[in-house]
Amino acid sequence: MSEIYDFHCHILPGIDDGSRDIEMTDAMLRAEEEQGVDHILFTPHFYAQQQSGSEFLRHRGNAFDKVKGLIDSKGYAIETRAAAETYFFKGISEAGILDDLCMHTDSAQVLFVEMPFTQWRRSMYQEVKALIEKRQFTVVLVHIERFYKFQKDKTIWDQIFSLPVIAQHNAGIYKGLMTRGLGLRTIKEHWPVILGSDAHNTTSRPCNMADGRRVIEKKLGTAALSRIDNRSRRLWTDGTIN
Ligand SMILES: [Fe+2]
Repeated sequence: MSEIYDFHCHILPGIDDGSRDIEMTDAMLRAEEEQGVDHILFTPHFYAQQQSGSEFLRHRGNAFDKVKGLIDSKGYAIETRAAAETYFFKGISEAGILDDLCMHTDSAQVLFVEMPFTQWRRSMYQEVKALIEKRQFTVVLVHIERFYKFQKDKTIWDQIFSLPVIAQHNAGIYKGLMTRGLGLRTIKEHWPVILGSDAHNTTSRPCNMADGRRVIEKKLGTAALSRIDNRSRRLWTDGTIN
């Protein structure tokens, strides 16, 4: 097994703005397998303001069962789990639903949080801190590069990334000369980075882990990519990166 991990995607069918049906899911899984991806975490969007937790969990459960059936019938050599891309909301650190939104390992619960697309504020830092310290979650902040441009004042950005959070990058950013800068810099500075495709479909937002990995290897060397892979394996296995 190559052990390549995609920690962020919208491959589960008919649950969010990702894959629209099981045929598209099949094509996306095939693309993942062709690129050597053999561990996939499904992370459909969860918006606490727009949907009830129980409704989300029911949809996710149904979609996941369908996809597990597909994987078995097609013989994909891919290990999968289901979690969620949970959009930040006021009071998130006290929400009861979070346990069910996490990726579960034997020893830890890993929560994937999508931060607001605004200037981050002190209250956001406090909630992320409480998720780690009070709730004891391993916290992954998804596609961190997408929030950077909103941080005219970097104080809270710096504070949040001084917490033991894991930074997920979208593989697609490495394709663009304009978008890869922050990604490469943070890997070079040894931030705890993991990768995800954030794939939504087979066209405009496809599975693209291989492209991103190729650029990282070319620009920063095999050792940098190995560090990401080792970290990913630990996160999948133990739910921590320590
Ligand atoms: Fe996403």
